[in-house]
Formats: sequence, structure tokens, C-alpha cells
Amino acid sequence: MDRIRIVGGHSLNGSIPISGAKNAALPLMIASLLTDEILTLENMPRLADVNLLIRILGNHGVDHAVDGKRRGDQPNAGNTLHLSARNIVDTTAPYELVSRMRASFWVIAPLLARMGEAKVSLPGGCAIGTRPVDLLLMVLERLGADLDIAGGYVIAKAPKGLKGAEIVFPKVTVGGTHTALMAAALAQGTSVICNAAREPEVQDLAECLVKMGARIKGGGTSTIEVEGVARLSGARHAVLPDRIETGTYAMAVAMTGGDVLLEGARPELLQSALDSIEKAGATVKASNSGVRVTRNGAGLTPVDVSTEPFPGFPTDLQAQFMALMSRARGSSRITETIFENRFMHVQELARLGARIRLDGETAIVDGVERLRGAPVMATDLRASVSLVIAGLAAEGETIVNRVYHLDRGFERLEDKLGRCGAVVERLVGG
Ligand code: UD1
Repeated sequence: MDRIRIVGGHSLNGSIPISGAKNAALPLMIASLLTDEILTLENMPRLADVNLLIRILGNHGVDHAVDGKRRGDQPNAGNTLHLSARNIVDTTAPYELVSRMRASFWVIAPLLARMGEAKVSLPGGCAIGTRPVDLLLMVLERLGADLDIAGGYVIAKAPKGLKGAEIVFPKVTVGGTHTALMAAALAQGTSVICNAAREPEVQDLAECLVKMGARIKGGGTSTIEVEGVARLSGARHAVLPDRIETGTYAMAVAMTGGDVLLEGARPELLQSALDSIEKAGATVKASNSGVRVTRNGAGLTPVDVSTEPFPGFPTDLQAQFMALMSRARGSSRITETIFENRFMHVQELARLGARIRLDGETAIVDGVERLRGAPVMATDLRASVSLVIAGLAAEGETIVNRVYHLDRGFERLEDKLGRCGAVVERLVGG
């Protein structure tokens, strides 16, 4: 298993190209199941999760092709991926695949909407606590599907097609909203999605579906109206930049000091996180080419944050912000309201010298003057990257074990950081 070795204490200077968003790329790829024509996705990130989803879609009969590099292409440009679900050969998504990536459960919506049936394994446990799918199933039932759960699988049937309906979410769910959008796009009649997730990735999916011929109003707002159509066509769509990658590197710079341009980043996708980073003492400036983050050697100010659905502070940046606050001059409170048990990084940050106490859903972080390198273990994607940025600011050597989590969601992390002066390398195997 690969590990990442970091020698901390170097400031970051230069520029980091921001990749396409993983959390937009995955539902966009799944949307390819809705049409028998080709869906072309540009600015695709090169990530393990994308490759795994290509395999999962391949199992349903989706063919794929990736454009090769052409002369004059930007070296950091994302991939262009063509997906063709002309023939769906299998409507079953097996446990061995779904259990490796929760988001693949979402295939249930397009398979059911287009084929009238789907059998998809329940995703099972996850390192960040219980993550049920009850609201996703509620969506399908509201749209008229018959559901049965047997042998760990959800068996969904709608032989006469889905029917538009009002869907009211009791809590904001990104996956639930993706499911509702994809299923309602091919249902008969109109659906209204209330208390929809407003995350930029939901808006990105809605925009792509509109290009495919869907009739959707209000994507990116909390009430979305979908007028179902009989069929969708192919389209070409560019994945939006990754706001979590942007926020992570912004926090890394705030932590180590330095001056980095996050190329292609869009500040409006993470304004709340950028505001918190500024309050902590970094300078954040938006320009046409991206977002520039600078911090001189002055100490960090403690800042309290609470995770919220978009446009609030994202749960996917909570662990990284905790790493940042571990070196602030004073105490801060970080509250996690989205996921239970998303504090697995606390014990690992403590190994680097951070002082953090848990009080229910709040972590109280008492900033320390210095962190010291140590071997640490990653437990989930965002937790792992919080250990990397803490390691960049720690004295001496930090080894982050189990980096396969990082490869799921961060493209060429060691390369991007290394180009900005970080001492970071991948130790292959062992
Ligand atoms: C997506 C993101 C993930 C991010 C999360 C919240 C992807 C691939 N993943 O995950 O990185 O952290 O949004 O921004 O895009 N819930 C239920 N029942 C359900 C579904 C969800 O109770 O059927 C709860 C969850 O347990 C959680 C909350 O709703 O407490 C929000 O989860 P949700 O927005 O659905 O997260 P994901 O779509 O799984």
C-alpha cells in the first residue's frame, strides 16, 4: 500500500491547477445511463473513483473512450470522456462494486427511469458513520416505483414508467436530489422537488441534463421543477472545478504561509470557506485566472465554524479546517451538523500534537505553537488530506499511511504540492 512522506516546515509558493470536481463528475457519468446517445464530459479529473465508476458503468453495458492528448493541449487540462449507454445489458449493480463506492448506488435512478427496473446492492457501511439511503428510496417510491429489499439488494420496478410527483425532502441530501433529478427527467408528468440540495454539483448535473433535453427549472435552488420527457439525447458538458480541492489547498497555504494561485478555481463555489480562511488571517483574492491565497508569517486567528448544506461551510472541508485551527493562537469550535461521527481525524491530528476535545458534535480545538511529524493513518478521503496539510506545517517527517483514500479524490496531490515547494513524496508499496 502506498504511503505519502512529508517533511514539514516549507511554505507553499507558485500555482496549483484545480481539477474538475469529483462530486460533479460522478453523477454526470451516471447520467449517461439515461440516453442511448453519447454523453461527452470534459474537464474530467483523473481519479481512482472515476476509474471505478467507469468499471461499474461498463458492467451495465456502457462503453467509454478517453481522448488522447493533442498538440497544444494544456498539460493540466482534464480528460475528455465519452460514454455511450446505447445498449444496457444488465440492470443489476452488484455488491462487490457498489460497496466500494457509495455514489454508485445512484445508478438506480437512471436504470429504473429508462429500463423500468433496477437491482442495486445497498451500499453498506462507511468510514464516516451511518449514511442511510432511505430518502433516495423515498424519491423512487414517490415517483411510483415498487420497491423490495431482499438479500441486501434494492429491487425497484416501474414497468409502466415513473410518474411525476411532489418530492419533499425532510433534510437536505445531495444524493437524494441527484436521484430525484435523474428519475424525474424521464418520468411522465411534472415533479416538484422541495428542500432540494443547492450544492454546485447539483446545479452542474441539472445543467447537463438540460443540455440532454431535460426540462428542469430551478437547478441550484431549493425548489426544482422537472417536466418529464420521453427520451434524452447526447450532449457535451464540462465538469465544474472542484471546490473541495480548492478549499483544501487554500487551507494548506493558510497553514504553511506563502503565495499560491489556485488556477481555474471559482470563489463563488466556496465563499463561506474562503471567508473563514480570511478570518483566520490569510488573504484571498479572486481574479480571472482563479483564486490567489497568501499568508505571511503572522499567527493564525481562531475561527469557529459549523458545517451546513451549501452555501454554508462544507462538511468536506471540516477536517482540513480543523488541521488549520490546530495551530491558531487560541481556541476554536468546529461543529459537524451533516454527518455523525465525522471526527475520525481527531485522534490522528492528536498524534501530530494537536489538542482537540470532542463535545458531542463539536470539536474544541486549542491551538498549539507547533505540530511535530509522526506516522498517521487515513480513515476517509477528507480526513486523509487533513493529515497531509497538517504534515506540511509540522516539524520533521510525517508519513500518511493508506493513501488510497487520497487517490480516490485528489488528483496528483504530491505533484501539485511538490511544485509549490512542499517536500512530499509517494512511497510506493510497503
Ligand atoms: C455527498 C458528497 C459528499 C458530501 C455530502 C454532503 C458525493 C459523491 N458525495 O454525499 O462528499 O460530504 O454530499 O455535502 O457527491 N441522508 C439520509 N438519508 C438518505 C440520504 C442522506 O438521512 O437517504 C443524510 C446523510 O446521512 C447525511 C445528510 O443526509 O446526514 C446529507 O447526506 P447527502 O447530502 O445525501 O450526502 P451524499 O450525497 O451521500
